[in-house]
Amino acid sequence: MKGSKKSLSLRKEFNISWTLFLLSQNFFVSLPQNIKTVKNYIDMKDFNFYAPTRVVFGKNSEEQLSQLIRQYGGTKVLVHYGGGSARKSGLLDKVEAMLNDAKIDFVELGGVVPNPLLSKVREGIELCRKEGVDFILAVGGGSVIDSSKAIGYGVGYDGDLWDFWDGKAVPQSCLPIGVMLTIPAAGSEMSSSCVVTNDEGMLKRGFNSDLCRCKFAIMNPERTYTLPPYQTAAGATDIMMHTMERYFSKYEDATLTDAISEALLRTVKDAVFEVLKNPEDYRNRAAIMWASSLSHNDLTECGTEKDFASHRLEHELSGLFGVTHGAGLAAVWGSWARFVLDRHISRFAQFAVNVMGVANDFTDPRATALRGIEATERFFHAIGMPISIPELIGRKATDAEIAELVRKCSRDGKITVGALEVIDADAMSQIYRLANQ
Ligand code: NZQ
Ligand code: ZN
Repeated sequence: MKGSKKSLSLRKEFNISWTLFLLSQNFFVSLPQNIKTVKNYIDMKDFNFYAPTRVVFGKNSEEQLSQLIRQYGGTKVLVHYGGGSARKSGLLDKVEAMLNDAKIDFVELGGVVPNPLLSKVREGIELCRKEGVDFILAVGGGSVIDSSKAIGYGVGYDGDLWDFWDGKAVPQSCLPIGVMLTIPAAGSEMSSSCVVTNDEGMLKRGFNSDLCRCKFAIMNPERTYTLPPYQTAAGATDIMMHTMERYFSKYEDATLTDAISEALLRTVKDAVFEVLKNPEDYRNRAAIMWASSLSHNDLTECGTEKDFASHRLEHELSGLFGVTHGAGLAAVWGSWARFVLDRHISRFAQFAVNVMGVANDFTDPRATALRGIEATERFFHAIGMPISIPELIGRKATDAEIAELVRKCSRDGKITVGALEVIDADAMSQIYRLANQ
């Protein structure tokens, strides 16, 4: 029978009825591209992709530091860093030696805390003005980079710096910034975003502008060998979330972007287990580090739309409780996902199958989609991340705290968050409560 007319026509009939069945389920997971010609999709969104940061990646990348600072006009540098890990690892000593050798003048300011504070930023602005700094070198992760970006905005601004995060003013300039990345997580090394916490009221806010995009990012995966497991896992979670926040979009026809996103997510998901077992696994540390940048430089948004509801819900958690950003994301994502699931079943099913490796239940797409959410939560648990607020902070949040989170996230009910689904104050409250169980 093989190759006969009869078997071909049988196969064709089978294909057609199977296709019709799947179409009736609005379920296109792993189907050939031509299935998508049935116009059930919103075309990919128009986009304008801009990623100006020079990435210098690998074991010998650090040696290029002085040359890069010169290339971008730095003559007096602020070396900005965190609480001590960069000193302990010997990286700061190496930076100082390289700058001294190249006769590049510099001053230093350390002490940036995770979830960086505006008070430290103000200290940095004052120092830069006093010393005539014309270039900032961030040695660290998202917190140090964002503190650097905020200093960069502030040096040329006479008003109150918080105006930018309060929506009262738009920066007109930013000092050039270079990065020596020590933790792959926030993706700030290539992003247009700057997230800081105002010590007055512990308000954590993000502000986006291309002005703060880093001139260069030096990334040596070996520098991440010293990361504690919790920071490694929280970093991987944040990286994955930056892509997931763009993947769960109503623009479902960004085929290439979807493929890139799914590959990135699978890669990080697998690599994180390897580096937790063996912290000096170069191959997988490198994969995670590169993913950190690609996940938040807008590549995975080409043709889709940023949702970022989970991020906005999380920023209030780290603002109020001082928790690690990636862990906060893991604690709320599942609740957000269950809250929006029923209006986006095919998208969640595609994620379940193509990213989480869930078996495709063709008769019940919702069950497949739900298994994908459960598998993601099992993954978070397996790498030591919380999947609820009690797991995140060690107790349930009180009703008053939930109300405070909602008040801040919705700016007293004046704004909504999210794009896949618009999340208003009432929805925020429901999601936080779901996560608080
Ligand atoms: O302060 P040190 O001593 O350096 O220790 C840090 C810190 O405690 C430690 N660490 C960093 N590199 C290390 C290391 N420990 C050992 N070995 C190393 N090689 O790790 C801890 C966390 O550092 P942090 O910079 O806070 O981490 P991350 O990169 O996750 O940044 C988090 C901040 O970025 C914001 C978050 O909200 C949070 O404030 N985000 C910024 C974004 C952006 N600008 O685009 C986007 C993100 O969604 C995020 O909101
Ligand atoms: Zn993030």
